[in-house]
Amino acid sequence: MQQTLVIFKPSAVQRGLIGQILTRFEQKGLKIVAMKMATLSEEILREHYAHLVDRPFFPFILASMTASPVVLMVLEGVDAIKVVRLLTGATNSREALPGTIRGDFSMSGQENVIHASSSPEDAQAEVARFFTPDEIHHWTPLMTPTLYSPDGK
Ligand code: PPS
Repeated sequence: MQQTLVIFKPSAVQRGLIGQILTRFEQKGLKIVAMKMATLSEEILREHYAHLVDRPFFPFILASMTASPVVLMVLEGVDAIKVVRLLTGATNSREALPGTIRGDFSMSGQENVIHASSSPEDAQAEVARFFTPDEIHHWTPLMTPTLYSPDGK
């Protein structure tokens, strides 16, 4: 099992898309193991987007990501990092395929409605950045035998 971090950006929260996007993850069979609303500080955004702080558009990221609270969650499943990125679609929403979350709900590379961890290393760091261990819940959905084979395939 893998865990991955998803942020519902202000572009999702402000547009009332939390429920529709969350449904995509639930209906896929991903398990929600942590979820909360938060207002992100500049400090944590500088850490989260450390690879982008020197880019000219970084002030736009700061303004966009602090325009409202966000919803953060940890999703769990077999190959969850890749599965969530596939559901999410390309960073530039105009190039994201129809059927993906960005492809169906957004028109922008910045206002692209959600962030999703891109690698196991990033996922581990991002989950730890936004959640303490006691905020992550260990539970087994009753539907698990209808989602995976006994050996987890
Ligand atoms: S990605 O999606 O992580 O693989 O791409 P990456 O290039 O590492 O991250 C891009 C994030 O910056 C946000 N952003 C922009 N990207 C490109 N151009 C502009 N102008 C821009 N403005 C904001 C983009 O939404 C990606 O955020 P996340 O949260 O990673 O999706």
